[in-house]
Amino acid sequence: MTSSYSPESAHLEAILLVGGQGTRLRPLTLSTPKPLLPTAGVPFLAHQLARARSSGVRRIVFATSYRASMFAEAFGDGSAFGLSLEYMTEETPLGTGGAIRNAAQALTCGPDAPVLVLNGDILSGHDISEQVGMHVTRRAAITLHLTEVDDPSRFGCVPTDEEGRVTAFLEKTPNPVTNRINAGCYVFQRSVIDRIPEGQVISVERETFPGMITAGELVLGYADRSYWLDVGTPAAFVQGSCDLVLGRLPSPALPGPCGEFLTMPGAEVSPSAKIEGGSVVGPRAVVESDASVHGSVLDADCVIESGAVVVDSVVGAQARVASGAVLRNAVIGDGAVVGSGNELLAGARVWPGVRLPPNAVRFSSDV
Ligand code: GTP
Repeated sequence: MTSSYSPESAHLEAILLVGGQGTRLRPLTLSTPKPLLPTAGVPFLAHQLARARSSGVRRIVFATSYRASMFAEAFGDGSAFGLSLEYMTEETPLGTGGAIRNAAQALTCGPDAPVLVLNGDILSGHDISEQVGMHVTRRAAITLHLTEVDDPSRFGCVPTDEEGRVTAFLEKTPNPVTNRINAGCYVFQRSVIDRIPEGQVISVERETFPGMITAGELVLGYADRSYWLDVGTPAAFVQGSCDLVLGRLPSPALPGPCGEFLTMPGAEVSPSAKIEGGSVVGPRAVVESDASVHGSVLDADCVIESGAVVVDSVVGAQARVASGAVLRNAVIGDGAVVGSGNELLAGARVWPGVRLPPNAVRFSSDV
């Protein structure tokens, strides 16, 4: 659908939900909130902020709770991004709906204006202006971005009628009625946000959206098939970073030219090491001779010793992976040491600072 709506000339404001604890990404999120984890060389949110900016958004209110002060430390007043940023913090987390209501106190727009609401853990290539344009043209109460996934049973699914009207907002079910799911980017009429009860724990997914649909209000679905990824799990987080490096989702926030991999300032990579699949070698990280790194995120100051193999994994800041160790689909916390001969596979996680002695963990397909 095309529209003459221009978010920029309408001074579109946004609320960014970043207060969650990111439990599925532990131990990475023990010290750093999910939206600030280094992703393709910059904090994850930098990609979202740059995309929102290029869609015409100029002012964003962050809805913070978990490790709230770290967001202002990372992004300040937003001028580096050409944005004006405000921070609203919940003393105790209010859920997605309560957070939107709380953050709305810092909005400057009137009750009839549309407000963009973004989950802080989504990478999406969809056309935000078009979604807002549909919302404005059709005078909707809420317009949800919907995306199609192969396996919708892991998500809430969102059926619509032929006109795009959302007919139900269904929780996870083994037999989903559609493969269209909630993609975590909404347009709300400001007046709808103001009707959310203040200071209460409320979920938009479980309460606000189903309640609005039952009440017969116009909730629209803006469905498309552009790039979309929820980076809530370690595997998805690694995939998102690699996709950005490989150019599968263009991002104005990438820190430099990328190809098969991205190296950050001060990183040292041996000429005989093999690095590919969209991997990032973080600032001052070292990859020694004959090491192999595929589709992985290596954080600042970590060391991959000679001959180690790292595939589809995250290695935290100042961690060390010793010679001959193998990681596949593993997460190594900051400052942890994986001794030689260890094999960590299939979702293994090592907590920050833990030292695994040589040959402590080994998986083998023939036992
Ligand atoms: P998990 O604990 O791993 O499920 O991750 P999460 O805490 O990020 O939860 P979820 O993925 O369901 O959250 C979706 C988005 O809403 C994320 O961007 C969260 O940061 C945000 N969010 C969730 N709960 C709250 C809350 O109570 N307050 C605020 N401000 N944001 C929230």
